[in-house]
Amino acid sequence: MKQGYKIAVFGGDGIGPEVIREGKKVLEAVSERENFELQWIDYPNGGEHYLRTGELLSEGTLKELERCDAIYFGSIGDPRVEPGILERGILLTLRFYFDQYVNLRPVKLLEGVPSPLAHHGHDIDFMVVRENTEDFYVSIGGRVKGNKSSKEVELIRNLYNIKFKLDIESDADELAYQIGVITREGCERVMRFAFELARKTGKKRVTSVDKANVLTEGYGFWREVFNDVAKDYPDIETEFNYVDAMCMWLVKNPEWYKVVVAPNMFGDIITDLGAMIQGGLGLAPGANINPDGVSMFEPIHGSAPKYSGKGVSNPIATIWAGAMLLENIGESRASEIVLHAIEAVLRDGKVRTYDLGGKSKTSEVGDAIVSAIKAV
Ligand code: IPM
Ligand code: MG
Repeated sequence: MKQGYKIAVFGGDGIGPEVIREGKKVLEAVSERENFELQWIDYPNGGEHYLRTGELLSEGTLKELERCDAIYFGSIGDPRVEPGILERGILLTLRFYFDQYVNLRPVKLLEGVPSPLAHHGHDIDFMVVRENTEDFYVSIGGRVKGNKSSKEVELIRNLYNIKFKLDIESDADELAYQIGVITREGCERVMRFAFELARKTGKKRVTSVDKANVLTEGYGFWREVFNDVAKDYPDIETEFNYVDAMCMWLVKNPEWYKVVVAPNMFGDIITDLGAMIQGGLGLAPGANINPDGVSMFEPIHGSAPKYSGKGVSNPIATIWAGAMLLENIGESRASEIVLHAIEAVLRDGKVRTYDLGGKSKTSEVGDAIVSAIKAV
């Protein structure tokens, strides 16, 4: 009997469903070639569904997803919905519920891709390992108008439960605060993942990103834990970069980096920069990984409402995320075939979307990658 996998699919908002359609097409083509089966389970969650039903993501859906082998995700964000509602109610809920503590984002400049940094050639090839459950993303914060306020909040993760009791006295007119959380176990596990990745891939330098010169509590602690973890990996070179300096170095010397490990928010920021280095958001994939649970794969771009329904978006980021999904479920050969097909289509240069200076449609890029898979 053929090996079969259940894949939950969230097309989401904007261009999400268009790029996911191409991803499914490509993954199906490679599954036929490699003789395994993919069973897609489509979910409607997103802005439209929320506006119609008031539902973001139900407990029932989360329970169903526990029985899937992986989640394939398009993009989230709808201009009709206040920013944060869909992002937190759907995407971040999935990341946190499944404790996908690693956000793995490869930055690789492929041959034939125009990039403002193309003169650095194909040496641009590093992996960002972004912590994905803590930092300022814990969404603990509030507003105070008046002189006194108190609030109790709970942070629930697979690793721990933390309660905060906040008493605020203030004579400011109005204030807002946002609390970031870094725990030893939370950053240690993602750092270990980064070091193991460095070993496995032979990319033997791990750069840790922080802002320990100003945010001394949180990121000073991050740095301390990094030093502790590094002791177990004497074969791997290590260094620290302040996040601001790193933005500069990423433009000046991107080929320097091999594996980068970053707290959640800095990881978010530097991976958009990374995306531009590798040719744009249309080419940047990401994986939300729980090494012992259900992982989720998505392009790092948003829903790009302006381009929605036009069929002009580049599906390669999503297809590349699909290749990462295949690797994760154990279909490494299929994953490599998809990556080679992406590379072949980009190198050939005849079929490319507007962002890469071409005129091809989203579906034509998907078709070209399918043909390249069949031609292998
Ligand atoms: C990303 C996105 C998300 C994030 C948003 C949509 C919540 O920017 O995946 O990089 O900040 O993590
Ligand atoms: Mg982002």
